[in-house]
Amino acid sequence: MSAPPTILVFDSGLGGLTVLREIVRARPDAHYVYVADDAFFPYGHHGEDEIIARVVPLVGELIKAHAPDLVVIACNTASTLVMSHLRAAYTLPFVGTVPAIKPACASSTTKRVSVLGTSGTVKREYTRKLIHDFAQGCEVTLVGSGELASLAEAALNGHTVRDVEIAAELAPCFVGTGADDPARTDTIVLACTHYPLLLDRLTKLAPWPVDWIDPAPAIARRVSDLLGPPGREHDELGAEMLFTSKRRHTLAQALTPFFGGRVPA
Ligand code: DGL
Repeated sequence: MSAPPTILVFDSGLGGLTVLREIVRARPDAHYVYVADDAFFPYGHHGEDEIIARVVPLVGELIKAHAPDLVVIACNTASTLVMSHLRAAYTLPFVGTVPAIKPACASSTTKRVSVLGTSGTVKREYTRKLIHDFAQGCEVTLVGSGELASLAEAALNGHTVRDVEIAAELAPCFVGTGADDPARTDTIVLACTHYPLLLDRLTKLAPWPVDWIDPAPAIARRVSDLLGPPGREHDELGAEMLFTSKRRHTLAQALTPFFGGRVPA
């Protein structure tokens, strides 16, 4: 009987859990190691060279320690910079998370799309190129949020996050004059894996209804394709959650849904 594959999912913090949740759904036959680089969080506040210098060797150490079959970089702020470096340095398959501009622009009817990401992600050359290549006639507004990832972490940790704090980060995404404007924004790309953690709040605070585009299901399909046909579900697949700060996670109850009901060690 072959051993279950190990998938390592990496983010700066808890946002990558929104990607993990979809991958676990698609591949319940795998063992999962989730790593939050909380010692360096938030990535959105760091420069490009700093992120490359941090993530590439750190992922190398994690590969050595956990021998994964595949690594998912569940972070837009990192993926828009490090994927080519990782692929050049290590031989296993990598899957990144980048702003879902192509599907968003393809599905927008008003042709007005906003990309909500960290201030790092919206500044990237990579993101600009996605718009250049895939905007398909849409007007794309880039909205860099300084605080939304931290607010999402706070909310998941059970702290109170006020509506006004979230609404302030969200407001620039809504372009247009309101209900009668046929060209108002109708699609928002969630270009940071933390933001789907707040989806209920974002939906509630939106001045008008929009489609929120989360790339996690597409990432899960890509992971599944790369792994090949699923094996038998083993009894003891388990999951691990690690923080680079070395703190123990104290969120077991809140975390289990992201791990498909498993309690991460
Ligand atoms: N989750 C990360 C992303 O997808 C960003 C959060 C951070 O600033 O560290 O971009």
